Amino acid sequence: MEQVTVERLGHKGDGIAPGPIFVPGILPGEVVEGAVENGVMAAPRIVTPSTARVSAPCSHAKSCGGCQLQHASDDFVTEWKLDVVRRALDAQGISAEIGSVHTSPPQSRRRAAFSAKRTKKGALAGFHRKGSDVVIAVPNCQLVTPKLAASLPMVEALAVLGASRKGELSVTVTDSLGGLDVSVKGGKEIDTELRSKLADIAREYGLARVTWDDEALTRLPPYHQFGKAQVVPPPGAFLQATLAGEAALLQAVTDAMAGAKSIADLFAGCGTFALPLAEQARIHAFEGEKPMVKALDHGWRNAQGLKHVTSTARDLFRNPLLPDELDRFDGVVIDPPRAGAEAQVEQLAKSKVKRIAHVSCNPVTFARDTARLLQAGYRVTDLRVVDQFRWSTHLELVAALTKD
Ligand SMILES: C[S@@+](CC[C@H](N)C(=O)[O-])C[C@H]1O[C@@H](n2cnc3c(N)ncnc32)[C@H](O)[C@@H]1O
Repeated sequence: MEQVTVERLGHKGDGIAPGPIFVPGILPGEVVEGAVENGVMAAPRIVTPSTARVSAPCSHAKSCGGCQLQHASDDFVTEWKLDVVRRALDAQGISAEIGSVHTSPPQSRRRAAFSAKRTKKGALAGFHRKGSDVVIAVPNCQLVTPKLAASLPMVEALAVLGASRKGELSVTVTDSLGGLDVSVKGGKEIDTELRSKLADIAREYGLARVTWDDEALTRLPPYHQFGKAQVVPPPGAFLQATLAGEAALLQAVTDAMAGAKSIADLFAGCGTFALPLAEQARIHAFEGEKPMVKALDHGWRNAQGLKHVTSTARDLFRNPLLPDELDRFDGVVIDPPRAGAEAQVEQLAKSKVKRIAHVSCNPVTFARDTARLLQAGYRVTDLRVVDQFRWSTHLELVAALTKD
């Protein structure tokens, strides 16, 4: 039995005491005791709790692996996330001030990747238990929208229908405006009987679309509203995690693009930013995934009152826009995946583009790419944190940069 004081949180939200000893579920400043095995105190008893400790809002928080930080107050989590950002910026010598912080409310995540298994009595759907691949039921989940939480019986019905005896289904459910959009992986191969029973489930639970591996059955368009346009993303395509987070990011991007008449949206997805920005400017959207480009274009063609939007499928890692292509725009929005956009930012640094909105879900690659832009003469005029990943260790950032 050892007694230790936790000094900091690791990047997965575990407490870390000198040693290092990893203490799951423990906050900085807390004194704990327990057995330590292989550098982990798996079952700590709290001797002195932190003032930042709160009772978890969700009844599944202790066992469920879906959330990491339900035991910490919102203020603590915000301060911790700001610190993660500050440290990433410091490491690159960037001294930008962080302006506003948005935190999405509980019950607002609009997509969940549930796991489901067959059991002796039928099926069980939920999330994995912390640090394990055992599936646990989460009927009172406080993270996802109420429609997603209520969809678990439907996910179980899918497992009864098409999970192999020992295998696990991965069922991604998205709360779209047209109804639930469900995408299933890891099940039996689809055949005529499965197809017909899937149609029954879709009808019974009022699903908009159900996709089994690559085969989609659409009852109603599972659409999302991006400004004046309605877009039906391809199954499983990227979407911002919450509606509130998306609105906060869009506001920051719109502010950064004020006055721009012609904008390139790089890593545009299905048009989250491109389509609302088309109310004020001509847009050229670039995105790697062809089906997403098609969805964006279709959304624009069917909307009223938008300026011209062109869209191109292009791999911006291998084939970034070059300075002469970038110089045709007076604003650039860039929202790359976690790896950042080193090659594209290198070209942006050589361009004459006046305004950049840089969105990122990774503070480390964000800081690396921003440092290159600062070196090239850009200034950060606004920096906001958008925490659409409540109770997790993730966060989103958006910066406005300008060059005279
Ligand atoms: C963080 S998402 C942002 C999407 C969009 N801006 C939004 O807010 O919905 C990153 C996007 O980059 C795309 N992507 C990933 N790698 C890419 C590449 N090498 N070239 C172009 N696009 C890529 C993904 O398909 C995804 O749509």
